[in-house]
Amino acid sequence: MNKELLKENLREIPDFPIPGILFYDVTTLFKNAECLRALIDELYELYKDKGITKVVGIESRGFILGAAVAARLGAGFIMARKPGKLPAEVIEETYAKEYGTDTIQIHKDAICEDDVVLLHDDLLATGGTMAATHRLVQSCGVKKAYVNFVIELKDLEGRKAFPENVDITTLLQL
Ligand code: PRP
Ligand code: MG
Repeated sequence: MNKELLKENLREIPDFPIPGILFYDVTTLFKNAECLRALIDELYELYKDKGITKVVGIESRGFILGAAVAARLGAGFIMARKPGKLPAEVIEETYAKEYGTDTIQIHKDAICEDDVVLLHDDLLATGGTMAATHRLVQSCGVKKAYVNFVIELKDLEGRKAFPENVDITTLLQL
């Protein structure tokens, strides 16, 4: 995969959403047809032989590539959402943020124990959101749940939020 092409097309926005934060804007990656294609192709190559039956995308920026790669893999797509968004019965996991807590939910009947799951999101920062979603999927009794992010912010050491045996890939390390 052409990482330079991705880096060139990833927009950096200083002081968003608050002063001192450098925001990596994936909308410019998704806008560029060559980048979008490269990202989907790379995810497909990484996971095509894993027997993935469900892809879980995390609201909201994990929905875009999550659904695209699910279709390529011949898997189903599951939305992991913030509270109050999913209409049927949910299971949820709450996790600590810098200030307070946050909660992530999936439908109770979204995943069964025979599923092989790929969890996907755009960005690994502290890892809190994905680690909670991973615990949620594990609580469904699945035997294997892979984790992928487009971007990993290495200085934040988000991998430490996961148990050591979790299989994590990232496409761009910044
Ligand atoms: C961002 C990003 C990841 C998460 C990463 O989402 O898209 O989902 O935060 O942070 P963490 O590793 O520290 O948990 P955000 O909550 O801003 O929502 P969005 O995707 O809807 O923009
Ligand atoms: Mg997000």
